[in-house]
Amino acid sequence: MTDGKKSAAQLWGSADYSGLAKRLEPAADALVDAVAPRAGEHVLDVAAGTGNVAIRAAACGVKVTAVDIAPRMVQLGRERTGPAVEWIEGDVEDLPLPDNTVDVALSAFGVIFAPRPDVALAQLRRVLKPGGRIALTAWTTDGYVAQRARLIRLFVPPDPAAADSLSWGDPEILEQRLATEFTGITIERLAVPWHFDSPQQMTSFYEAHSAAYRAAKQAAGDRAQEMAAAIEQQASPDGGPVRWESTYLLVQALAR
Ligand SMILES: C[S@@+](CC[C@H](N)C(=O)[O-])C[C@H]1O[C@@H](n2cnc3c(N)ncnc32)[C@H](O)[C@@H]1O
Repeated sequence: MTDGKKSAAQLWGSADYSGLAKRLEPAADALVDAVAPRAGEHVLDVAAGTGNVAIRAAACGVKVTAVDIAPRMVQLGRERTGPAVEWIEGDVEDLPLPDNTVDVALSAFGVIFAPRPDVALAQLRRVLKPGGRIALTAWTTDGYVAQRARLIRLFVPPDPAAADSLSWGDPEILEQRLATEFTGITIERLAVPWHFDSPQQMTSFYEAHSAAYRAAKQAAGDRAQEMAAAIEQQASPDGGPVRWESTYLLVQALAR
């Protein structure tokens, strides 16, 4: 594993992800509903986190494998799903699965963290059977998550080696990326509610549950408080309750 991958694994394991997982549940519902796994199918949840998607797929009575790069996520996921899901520590750019063995590959806000999108998509295609289904979610380039990321960049310059996760939220780029390995591409725009009683409650939530936010605050050094205040101001300019609908794309396609 490269140093970048090791630090991704450490980063994602460094906060209590449960709060974020809870808020992302509507996207996991949408992904599993979209592909409607059928009896006898093998479903893969990639960059599975603690198994929001995997646990829903397993409820359809199918075989489910979940892969995540962070050992801590794999441990928590295993505890959460029990034996209904097989958990494997692994990198989406080097999937620990044989060729042509998966019917449905899913990833909720996960594959978007691969530094090399083409490599990740080629891996997903490799493990899928021909005609297999893929469905992924990615934050839109104009939604709340993208706006917050752009604000954070004013305080913490992006690491050029890190994944450009927001590029996945541009429908044109997404379609181009998928077109090499997949066909029948459809893209829907959906949203998860991003509601908090106050902007301060929101940043306290990030402190508790978002490894990326904590890392950004650390990297911002003596501007950390200024950054937190800017994030609060952005989420709620008048200081009242935060009421965003955080938009994302749900893309579906078939393996060529
Ligand atoms: C935002 S979380 C999403 C988790 C889960 N899919 C969900 O919806 O709750 C992103 C996940 O991607 C995983 N991840 C990041 N880079 C990865 C990689 N290269 N290979 C596999 N997993 C990766 C992280 O460990 C983390 O669990």
